[in-house]
Amino acid sequence: MTERATAYLSGFGSHHESEAIAGALPVGRNSPQKVAFGLYAEQLSGTAFTAPRAANQRSWLYRVRPSAMHPPFRRLDDALLRTGPCLEAECPPNRLRWAPMPMPSQPTDFIAGLATIATNGEARKQQGVGVHLYACNRSMNRVFYSADGELLIVPQEGALELATEFGMLSIAPGEIAVIPRGVKFRVGVEGAARGYVCENYGAPLRLPELGPIGSNGLANPRDFLAPVAAYEDKPARTELVAKFGGHLWATDLEHSPLDVVAWHGNYYPYKYDLARFNAMNTVSFDHPDPSIFTVLTSPSETPGTANVDFVIFPPRWNVAEDTFRPPYFHRNVMSEFMGLVRGEYDAKKEGFLPGAASVHNCMSAHGPDVASYEAAVAAKLEPKRLANTLAFMFESRYVFEPTSWALGSPQLDKQYDATWNGFAPGSLSSGRGPGRGSQ
Ligand SMILES: [Fe+2]
Repeated sequence: MTERATAYLSGFGSHHESEAIAGALPVGRNSPQKVAFGLYAEQLSGTAFTAPRAANQRSWLYRVRPSAMHPPFRRLDDALLRTGPCLEAECPPNRLRWAPMPMPSQPTDFIAGLATIATNGEARKQQGVGVHLYACNRSMNRVFYSADGELLIVPQEGALELATEFGMLSIAPGEIAVIPRGVKFRVGVEGAARGYVCENYGAPLRLPELGPIGSNGLANPRDFLAPVAAYEDKPARTELVAKFGGHLWATDLEHSPLDVVAWHGNYYPYKYDLARFNAMNTVSFDHPDPSIFTVLTSPSETPGTANVDFVIFPPRWNVAEDTFRPPYFHRNVMSEFMGLVRGEYDAKKEGFLPGAASVHNCMSAHGPDVASYEAAVAAKLEPKRLANTLAFMFESRYVFEPTSWALGSPQLDKQYDATWNGFAPGSLSSGRGPGRGSQ
């Protein structure tokens, strides 16, 4: 394991600069004729050069060797990794749920431990997402990047040490990290680790607008942390694995590609502690739409209709008056992937364990199970703290297509539809009644 980082740079989307050696970062220009210490200047662009200034993301990296110095890539087996569009299995309108995946019994690193549960959109068009589960028990001794999308990592069990080109990020369950498209990194673990990854093919995740909420609240910018520069410079045969065009490729280097000595810009990996999320909710009545809990959003071209939203259901107070307090029954044009980091989810008291996953696709009816419903309509409506919970959702405008592996997995809950069996019919005494406005 690499030594834990002790310092971070604070701020979402801020322009940062960091140097591991004093004087490595050029002053006043990005690409001087000669960079200090014989370093190489390299620009990493996460948006088109001509993207509007507010959306434009790029960083300048000053490194021991240029990234361009590598032999040709060769194909690797994709194993259980899939990329949208992946229509290998017919997607049913059924609600889908999976029990937590078992930890690997063989030595498995983060990349080998990735399995795609669902995809949507089309990576080559920079639309949609892939949702992967990971379960691993060995630190990577290779380095990885995805050219297909940025990686939102949600640990559920076990801490991860992310050694990135930009420096070190340490995350534990309850925290998240985002590795931008193209950024190289290596994952270290101590023991078994498990979690979720959203590979976002679309626009980079950003903070949602706050509208009438005002200038504070939800995820506050200062709580997002970027690494300080840290580099590796020693001879080390290193396999660099790339995910490109939906497939895995590898090339062999004689050095570590994590050799950036200094950097500046606004395109970098970052972490966020979900406990810092300032949850908003009703103080009168009704259950607001879950969008009130949006941490980060990747917009699509249609305003308000996300490529993907990252939404959490954190510990909070529940105070709504004369209100059915769990999530309401609903059918939604958007499609939902859900996971649970810890505790229990207030619409499913049983059967949805930490590490589990569910997919509720476009217009597939869902909501609380019978036990949760009956408890909620009988509950005394006093202020109640939902203390032991941290669920999350990847909500997308595109239907999640489960992979063949996911649909064939023994973890697939064949009885999930029975969750909604047994609701007593409404107790009308007669047949059809008059509609409102009828004569
Ligand atoms: Fe839902």
